[in-house]
Amino acid sequence: MITNTDLEYKGNLYPNHIVKYIRDKDKFYFTTENGVILEVTVVQDRTIRFRYATEHTFPPDFSYAVDPNARRGYNRLEVLETKTEYIIETSKIQVLVDKKSLRTQISDLEGNIINEDELGFHWEENYEHGGNTVKMGKITQHSESYYGMGDKATHSNLKGKRVSNWVTDQYAYGKDQDPLYKAIPFYLGLHGGKSYGIFFDNSFKTHFDFAHERRNTTSFWAEGGEMNYYFFYGPEMYKAVRAYTNLTGAPELPPLWALGFHQSKWSYFPESQVKDIAQKFRDEKIPCDAIYLDIDYMDGFRCFTWDKTKFPEPKRMIAELEKDGFKTVVMIDPGIKIDRDYWVYREALENDYFCKRADGPYMKGKVWPGECNFPDFTNPEVREWWAGLYKEFMVELGVHAVWNDMNEPAVMEVPTKTAPLDTRHNYDGHPCSHRKAHNVYGMQMVRATYEGVKKYVYPKRPMVITRAAYSGTQRFSSTWTGDNVATWEHLWISNVQMQRMSMSGYSFVGCDIGGFAEQPSGELFARWIQLGAFHPFFRVHSSGDHGDQEPWSFGKEITDIVRKFIELRYQLLPYLYTMFWRYTREGKPMLQPIVCYDQEDTQTHFRTDEFIFGEQILVCPVQEPNAKGRRMYIPRGDWYNYWNNDMMEGGKETWIEADIDSIPVFIKAGAIIPKYPVQQYVGEKEIEELVLEVYYTEGAENSTVYEDANDGYSYENGKYSLRNFKFSGKKNELTIQQFKDGSFITSYDTFNIRLLGLPFEISKVTVDNEEVELEEVNFDQDNSIIISKDFTQLRIRGKKELPEEDETGSTNNEDE
Ligand code: GLC
Repeated sequence: MITNTDLEYKGNLYPNHIVKYIRDKDKFYFTTENGVILEVTVVQDRTIRFRYATEHTFPPDFSYAVDPNARRGYNRLEVLETKTEYIIETSKIQVLVDKKSLRTQISDLEGNIINEDELGFHWEENYEHGGNTVKMGKITQHSESYYGMGDKATHSNLKGKRVSNWVTDQYAYGKDQDPLYKAIPFYLGLHGGKSYGIFFDNSFKTHFDFAHERRNTTSFWAEGGEMNYYFFYGPEMYKAVRAYTNLTGAPELPPLWALGFHQSKWSYFPESQVKDIAQKFRDEKIPCDAIYLDIDYMDGFRCFTWDKTKFPEPKRMIAELEKDGFKTVVMIDPGIKIDRDYWVYREALENDYFCKRADGPYMKGKVWPGECNFPDFTNPEVREWWAGLYKEFMVELGVHAVWNDMNEPAVMEVPTKTAPLDTRHNYDGHPCSHRKAHNVYGMQMVRATYEGVKKYVYPKRPMVITRAAYSGTQRFSSTWTGDNVATWEHLWISNVQMQRMSMSGYSFVGCDIGGFAEQPSGELFARWIQLGAFHPFFRVHSSGDHGDQEPWSFGKEITDIVRKFIELRYQLLPYLYTMFWRYTREGKPMLQPIVCYDQEDTQTHFRTDEFIFGEQILVCPVQEPNAKGRRMYIPRGDWYNYWNNDMMEGGKETWIEADIDSIPVFIKAGAIIPKYPVQQYVGEKEIEELVLEVYYTEGAENSTVYEDANDGYSYENGKYSLRNFKFSGKKNELTIQQFKDGSFITSYDTFNIRLLGLPFEISKVTVDNEEVELEEVNFDQDNSIIISKDFTQLRIRGKKELPEEDETGSTNNEDE
């Protein structure tokens, strides 16, 4: 074993032996002889916080990432002291703190080591800036894999990689380029079938090395601040993500229209062009819910103004678009044009809201409008002012949603692409330089935007989009992955980024479909739409300096394919909305890489392409030109090919046909998938019937459908409709039980139940023990049956009679 004294090389300092131990309820303090304090907090049974101070002192405890409403509390907490260590035990895990070195080790209650310090905490004093570079070294366990870390455009398994977090405006980034727009210092480790998460809550520039420099070591460090990290025990990956999401928060439910299809470009103007685009959607019968106004709607790129030559009457235009089913989304950037005749500038100046440099002058930087000053969004007073600026837009003009861009903050014509590091910030009363505030600047901007939009669209729900983000930003805003490129490689990157963001607690995410820079071919555009239809945020956006990028821009064949997939998206809205509801309530990632779906199957550990949309739909995009299909891995279990209803046994790699008008999609056997009719926009039609596609299996499966008024807050007062369906299939019979909750009355009275993959011919149907005339069952077309939405039990039997018994089989309920 390496001892700490051996390690005092290269300026690194290490804690030595523990001389003092104090417990204060759920907090444990271990002080070493050389002045290091380790504070261990039991946040929940599976969530432990580790925080280290040097020189006997902790700075004030403050975090932008942690959700003030995070659940806390544990079921069991015991401490044991042995000759060599302290042992803290909860109902899920055991934490060992070594008396000689302050190193820690975490194991499950069976004694399997989940995570352990190698060098553990160490630090280097920073003579230039003061404070420390704080470091943590962990042992890479046998066959350990790593996932998460936000928007990294690299292989989903991070083993062997080193990445950094410093939010950056990275126009036309490439594969493996790092860092990008987000700083999400959260990763998942997986070894021996067990998973955990680590969140390093430090807003300085952070670095993570996953067995890159040394084969058996994983380390993370920050260029300032505290060593302050949280450990989340799985052992299932999704539970570790869920625990992280509990800590850093989930968003509220968006309005349903936000999950429809959105069309954007830099920029649609003047008004007549916006109207033409909107009209074309309706003429072409391609569903669309929102249209975006990029910076050119503004007067000289001044935020909160309109160019009245391009948009003479924004209020009328927005109302007319709304009548036609379109929501209007506008962009707002952080840079405020230096212009004494501009009211926003004057207000900020008069109130001292702009960021200043270390020696006093305002921080200046060039963005779209030329020289700008930048509000200090880390000041709560500035946030409140900023939120108030949205009043006219939302209340008087009727704008529906806001898109915050360039909030890294992006600064042009400087090599660092951002604010100078000596820029001062309020940091909610903990004054600091940009070194510490940079990664949270955009987050605090969009937080202020969210608060304003929410206040002024009330009683409707807010919808906000951001480019920059730090951990926790998911509470306030959806996000997209910035300025990508119209290449096949970027289609691959988008797929990985969406899954990775989801596994990093940030599920409401999308990319610029078709690519922002450069022009996609029709084929690439179609393939991208096919993938984007399965991303939570579904928007086409492009830089507009090349050809058009609307669904009809690539000829009839492509238009038809694009329409088909946008229609599918609208059909799947109740499924997607239910996924979203689950994400908001439980923090369950909306997109799961297949390793998260089946982590015990090592075949899944290095796969990047296949993912699970929600819980029961498997998708795998085609990512190269001229393909008629692709090889893909089907996870273990039985799956139905969505396009032809063939059942396939998983656990193997196989060739799946998917010509240009298709994408491999599989439905988990036993699933019940809810569908709405195609609508041109959310709310176009009153839903008269809910289609339930039932995929037969021999066995049990649970499915859920969550619905409410699609907007507003009545759901918080019980006005929602939650339907849990328990499917259970036997050789000769299937049963569906329905359990309902909530007081929302859905507009439809009936379900159209379509039975797929039935291995028998139907001989008897009973609904709540009453036999149904077989004529009512539509055998010939698609084995469908129309029944009341209030049924509690549907039983369908095959030709051979089975003995009467009421057995519904086991369920796949989660344990908590
Ligand atoms: C940035 C954004 C892009 C936007 C452009 C103009 O590049 O990432 O989406 O269109 O600025 O506002």
